[in-house]
Amino acid sequence: MTFVTHSSDETIAFGKKIGSQLEKGAVLALQGTLAAGKTTITKGIAAGLGIDENITSPTFTLISEYYGRLPLYHMDVYRLDSGEDFVNLGTDEMLYGDGVCVIEWSEKVMDLLPPYSIIIKMEADKDNDRLITVENWPYGEL
Ligand SMILES: Nc1ncnc2c1ncn2[C@@H]1O[C@H](COP(=O)(O)OP(=O)(O)OP(=O)(O)O)[C@@H](O)[C@H]1O
Ligand SMILES: [Mg+2]
Repeated sequence: MTFVTHSSDETIAFGKKIGSQLEKGAVLALQGTLAAGKTTITKGIAAGLGIDENITSPTFTLISEYYGRLPLYHMDVYRLDSGEDFVNLGTDEMLYGDGVCVIEWSEKVMDLLPPYSIIIKMEADKDNDRLITVENWPYGEL
């Protein structure tokens, strides 16, 4: 399924729809280059999970945790050198735990994610347009 948004607010609103439908154990693999909107859509996903904290980029912290209807583990693996580093962060507990994982730059660790991961590919089109493709979505209509 491919969707188009025309502003960051629209991307946040779309993320909120995603977040409101997630169930425990969901893993969201975000893909797309710099400024594609991965952190922006995560703000919406968090809102859909009932989290009212401001979501910031975990580029330097690598993993941030937030607590709403379900825990949200927001990861950014851009700075990781290897899959081993990813595992050593203790990510298995989060991937197979009772919350939701959102992983920015997941291209780097796809072989370490569960096969049921939801893949969200984001691409800048022109100006503020973003093409958002969702694969492996297991819930109802988006
Ligand atoms: N339709 C849109 N959806 C999302 N972001 C948009 C849109 N239009 C413009 N933007 C802008 O694009 C930027 C997206 O930044 P964001 O931090 O979400 O990207 P990112 O993919 O997380 O980048 P990084 O790879 O650095 O983590 C923001 O400045 C945002 O305001
Ligand atoms: Mg980001």
